[in-house]
Amino acid sequence: MRISHRSPDGGESFPSEIPSFGLGVFLMSEPGECKSACLAALAAGYTHIDTARAYGNEHEVGDALKEAGVNRDEVFITTKLRRMHATGFEEVLEHCQKSLENLDTDYIDLYLIHAPPEDTDHREPVWKGMEHCLEQGWVKAIGVSNYGAHHLDAMREYATYLPSVNQIEINPWLQRPELRAATETVGAKVMAYSPLARGHKLGEPELIEVAARLGCTPAQVAIKFCHDLGCITIPKSSRAERITENLASLDIDISNEIDVIEAMDCGYISGWDPTSEP
Ligand SMILES: NC(=O)c1ccc[n+]([C@@H]2O[C@H](COP(=O)([O-])OP(=O)(O)OC[C@H]3O[C@@H](n4cnc5c(N)ncnc54)[C@H](OP(=O)(O)O)[C@@H]3O)[C@@H](O)[C@H]2O)c1
Repeated sequence: MRISHRSPDGGESFPSEIPSFGLGVFLMSEPGECKSACLAALAAGYTHIDTARAYGNEHEVGDALKEAGVNRDEVFITTKLRRMHATGFEEVLEHCQKSLENLDTDYIDLYLIHAPPEDTDHREPVWKGMEHCLEQGWVKAIGVSNYGAHHLDAMREYATYLPSVNQIEINPWLQRPELRAATETVGAKVMAYSPLARGHKLGEPELIEVAARLGCTPAQVAIKFCHDLGCITIPKSSRAERITENLASLDIDISNEIDVIEAMDCGYISGWDPTSEP
């Protein structure tokens, strides 16, 4: 999928290609867990890994890339500026360099602000710092995460380059049509995190029935739903067999069940929701 950065006056810059499916590595806290999961994913054919400074495992992602022996340009790495570090221009530059060091790489494919900086006065200088990282080539694309429509709209006032991506929670139980539309309005693509709602709803009878009719697993239905919405989709698993199963969801045709899945939306938040903050 192509991503780029729209200017408030309508121009586009820094285009790049992002794989529309990847491995999320949140909550992999055991030493070696993230590295093993990344190795399993790379072996299965994944080309995109979504990490974050806050997950404490950027170094294991870097180790996995080296151990797998893949060329740097064959794998797309997304990482995120920690919310507590999103306090000013210089801080962004410093923490971007730290992530590069942790990942042991020359560039990051996509660098996201993990959530809107809590102090609203920090939002502009932090974005200016992100833009500097982009212009320096330290990162190939910049974006945001957990930004609501009002956060995105406010960026028009101060952004030279609008975000290429907004990473938000999306799954059959939290479909967010308005926020997806607001994201597209600024020229950004939606990246769906927690596509399985962290596993909370995989035992719902309705979903199990859909999966049975399609001859796949409940997790595969949820993942393919997000992907078919046009979202870059990044399910997490630490288990090799599920990592393979999740990738195979891309081959499943859910079109006959779309009305049933759309009716599952209930505004369920599985983790946190900074999109509704001021
Ligand atoms: N920007 C943000 O604020 C934010 C917030 C949350 C997540 N994220 C990103 O999005 C990624 C995915 O979200 P997530 O980790 O919150 O949750 P998720 O992908 O919705 O669900 C992960 C959970 O589902 C289980 N699971 C995975 N595949 C399965 C399968 N095929 N069958 C049954 N269970 C399965 C996993 O367990 P096992 O590991 O044991 O398989 C884990 O408990 C994260 O890893 C992170 O990269 C970003």
